[in-house]
Amino acid sequence: MSVLNIKRYHSVMGAFTRIPVAAVKLKTQGLLQLTTLVLLVAVIASGALLTASTTPITSRRGMVVAAEPLATAVGLEVLRDGGSAVDAAVATALALAVTYPQAGNLGGGGFIIFRPTVGSSVAYDFRETAPAASSRSMFLVDGVYDGDRHHNSHIAVGVPGTVAGLYLAWSDHGRLPWQRLVAPAIGLARNGFLVSHDFAASLAAVLPQMVPYEASVQQFSDGGEPYQAGDRFVQEELASTLERIATEGPAGFYSGRTAQLIEAEMLANGGLITQSDLGNYRPHRSTPVRTSYRGYEIISMPPISSGGTALVQMLNILEGYGLAEFGFGSAQTIHVMTEAMRRAFADRARYLGDPRFNPMMPISRLVSKSYAEELRATIQLGRASSSSPLSFEWPTEGTETTHLSVVDAERQAVSLTYTLEQLYGSKIVVPGAGFLLNNEMGDFNPAPNMTDVEGRIGTDPNLASPGKRMLSSMTPTIVEKNGELFMVTGSPGGRTIINTVLQTIVNVIDFGMNIQEAVDAPRFHHQWLPDRISYERYGLSPDTLTLLESKGHRFVAVDRQGAVQAIRYDASTDILEGAPDRRRAGSTALGY
Ligand code: DON
Repeated sequence: MSVLNIKRYHSVMGAFTRIPVAAVKLKTQGLLQLTTLVLLVAVIASGALLTASTTPITSRRGMVVAAEPLATAVGLEVLRDGGSAVDAAVATALALAVTYPQAGNLGGGGFIIFRPTVGSSVAYDFRETAPAASSRSMFLVDGVYDGDRHHNSHIAVGVPGTVAGLYLAWSDHGRLPWQRLVAPAIGLARNGFLVSHDFAASLAAVLPQMVPYEASVQQFSDGGEPYQAGDRFVQEELASTLERIATEGPAGFYSGRTAQLIEAEMLANGGLITQSDLGNYRPHRSTPVRTSYRGYEIISMPPISSGGTALVQMLNILEGYGLAEFGFGSAQTIHVMTEAMRRAFADRARYLGDPRFNPMMPISRLVSKSYAEELRATIQLGRASSSSPLSFEWPTEGTETTHLSVVDAERQAVSLTYTLEQLYGSKIVVPGAGFLLNNEMGDFNPAPNMTDVEGRIGTDPNLASPGKRMLSSMTPTIVEKNGELFMVTGSPGGRTIINTVLQTIVNVIDFGMNIQEAVDAPRFHHQWLPDRISYERYGLSPDTLTLLESKGHRFVAVDRQGAVQAIRYDASTDILEGAPDRRRAGSTALGY
């Protein structure tokens, strides 16, 4: 690649609509993939970028860490233009809806934890809601549970929250004009970008599942054939939808043409969402759940996510053990962490759901130190407890989401996790509107009384009901130390999210890892039911497994767990450290 081309690219970093021109030029020259190019430019432009290393990227002014490089670069440019952390997070999230359709979205929902420099942190809840025609038994057909209806159908689509949620956060804490934040996403959709090897593989894998949906095949394939690496990927209809959102704000999505297109797709295919459901959608501000953990302050997502509550419960239990002395990865550490996970996930199943529909949820008790003490007393160091779908008592004897983290020059921080639920959500593109719909209704419990040993939960608090939000595990989290920002973290991964976030925090606080080491370290997961530890292959040694087996634990090996995008702030040096997760290709940290 010639210096000239690098310079050309450098000069267009602020004008994303022009990037594809340069990218196409590179493609014809067959020199570099766009991703590599953007990263190279970012090195020049920013002086801070992470390549494979166990040392985190460092920067002084601001930092964005997200799942895809073009969208990360969009966020960085917003910070450089004087945007706040919320501005950068919003612009990155909107760009991810174009460049990372596996999980980036307009048609899904999610959460933000925002920490201002002065004042209290706030949680934004833009979780999807159940349409008005929903009911607790809506996933049963003639009394029999239908998994496809629950997860892979127009019925599985919840009323999207992302556009309303991003707009609300921006209204409260944005500095740059809304249109400035939407513009890069419009440019990327209208002019396209080059398909990377990983994106090509991902699109090829999902194509068979999109076959029933003509608009999806049209948008995500090249005339029915998978896109190849290096092809230019243009999304005209998505660009037009984004333009409506740029000029009208949420009204460009929840009313008018976009809403009509969503309703038409639903009506034609037995779906439930109406224009009235869309018009009634509201995002919420709420107060984060908090706890202290060994002198650090943990700030995380309250219900309707289960994430923050379960995270706080687990940390409160673990505070009573000398994890540092047990050592990272030791059988004793894995054991006590597993037992904490088991108990928090049992309580999750028993108690948690949409707080507006479950006014009696005992959140303050669940997150209290005294309750953690009670639970700790039921943990035996020498023996695993057992989980049963029939009991929540502990005898005393005995596919796709994405996370991004942003910190700005004033040390305001955003921890944002949002999702379509599975990879590419429902796989259903709204014809004429160019975006994918979620299949988040799958996060409601399948049917009353359906709790089983495989981990299906049938408890009341999270059964579907009109207007209700489905229980989530997303755990966007911010950690403070001595009143200063310390860490921003979060991950995708369904129920594993909570345990992934837990381990990232414990790895830094208890095991003294730097933020990149904490993200890289092997992970494990227990969720009450099924009663087994899943662990990243090669993450636990055979002797550790034997020791854990002798306590009564069972196992399953998995390829990988989660994709954390984290930032740590060192108040003593005023330096930011970014750590993308190399488990997912494309994860990128950019600072300036
Ligand atoms: O809200 C939740 O907890 C899930 N819908 C998240 C799904 C997910 O993380 C899948 N990604 N890997």
